[in-house]
Amino acid sequence: MRMLDLIEKKKLGQELNHNEINFIISGYTKKEIPDYQMSAFLMAVRFMGMTAEETSSLTMAMVNSGEIVDLSSISGIKVDKHSTGGVGDKTTLIISPIVASLGVPIAKMSGRGLSHTGGTVDKLEAIPNLRTEFSKEEFLEIVKTTGICVAGQSGNLAPADKKIYALRDVTGTVDSIPLIAASIMSKKIAAGSDAILLDVKTGSGAFMKTLEDSIKLAEAMVAIGESVGRCTVALITDMDTPLGYAIGNSLEIKEVVDVLNGNGPEDLTEICVLLAAEMLFLANKGSLEECKQMVLECIKNKSAIETLAKMVKAQGGNENHIYDINNFENAKFTQEIISESSGFIEKMDTTGIGLSACLLGAGRETEDSVIDFSAGIILHKKTGDIVKKSDVLATIYTSSLEKCEIGKAKFLESIIFSEKEPSKKPIVYARVSKDGAELL
Ligand code: URA
Repeated sequence: MRMLDLIEKKKLGQELNHNEINFIISGYTKKEIPDYQMSAFLMAVRFMGMTAEETSSLTMAMVNSGEIVDLSSISGIKVDKHSTGGVGDKTTLIISPIVASLGVPIAKMSGRGLSHTGGTVDKLEAIPNLRTEFSKEEFLEIVKTTGICVAGQSGNLAPADKKIYALRDVTGTVDSIPLIAASIMSKKIAAGSDAILLDVKTGSGAFMKTLEDSIKLAEAMVAIGESVGRCTVALITDMDTPLGYAIGNSLEIKEVVDVLNGNGPEDLTEICVLLAAEMLFLANKGSLEECKQMVLECIKNKSAIETLAKMVKAQGGNENHIYDINNFENAKFTQEIISESSGFIEKMDTTGIGLSACLLGAGRETEDSVIDFSAGIILHKKTGDIVKKSDVLATIYTSSLEKCEIGKAKFLESIIFSEKEPSKKPIVYARVSKDGAELL
């Protein structure tokens, strides 16, 4: 087999078989195929697409390039969850303890922040001394004894994806639905759970800006999961406005605690109840409606917040930060952002707001940047709210006055006012399962 022939084949829109895709992925991983040929192949895929069979073969070739986590020693149905990323998206840290408190083991590997979006592992590390790196044995032991562990992703899961993603990033080939779907699903399948819930974000702060593309991505990922025997469901959820009011690592953990204590923002609570109910449904705990009632009950009877505190302790962190959020260190500087306009907030450029939080110190500029866990933004107004001139739009938190000014300017430029009240958007747009997409 020759790589050149396979590039030609894809260029002409012909379907590659399983062996041909394996040849490409294993050859590239072993450095037998050079970057220039792989780049040409990726660009051909970007323009000609891939069939569901090709996308599934690509995913499994990337899964088989590395370690596959064996969770079989943990009893029960293991359900994983993945979000395509957003601003203020702290849902993993809310729904994981909810689901674990209801008897579904959570053995979860999460990522760090990327560009304007935050990452679960960074948020968790805002809790002093909490560990996110474990040996395989330690990870399994924590899940067996506590019912839940949220760790960083092992470096050896789908190494082919890591190498290919780096190449896509510099060759204009990130925005391809089969390539994104295979990339995400390869890591989820290698992480070993029996079922997968996908939270596919849509809107100005998301990877996929339109509902149509978000549904296409969700359908591609659900088809991959189902084709390899993992029950997979996706919810398409709104990321046209930040989720909740807190953006930034320790600020978001405090909001996680608020939701689990029953005092969280309405939008964030609603989405978490729906996502957690879907995870319980995938674990065969009941109908969706029954699962929703179970979620509401475990927030009310405090078993979910207690499970979060237990997880924090098991991972080496101080659970007193969960029982009393005043234990978190405050940022050196806080400043209110005062509105210079009046009217309705018609739109929030959510990517811009995420970048503003990064500029304040909550995210990384380069891979080696050190995160300021106390930095970020608390929103006081969101899309649809009416604002008078000199109302407080947000409070910003940072450790540097210079960052304060830069972050504030970026924030203000991300808010769009209008005279007219904008129409209210749903929080969840659609549910995609093996039976198809259902608009909600
Ligand atoms: N996230 C991933 O893991 N892979 C992609 O290709 C895009 C987003």
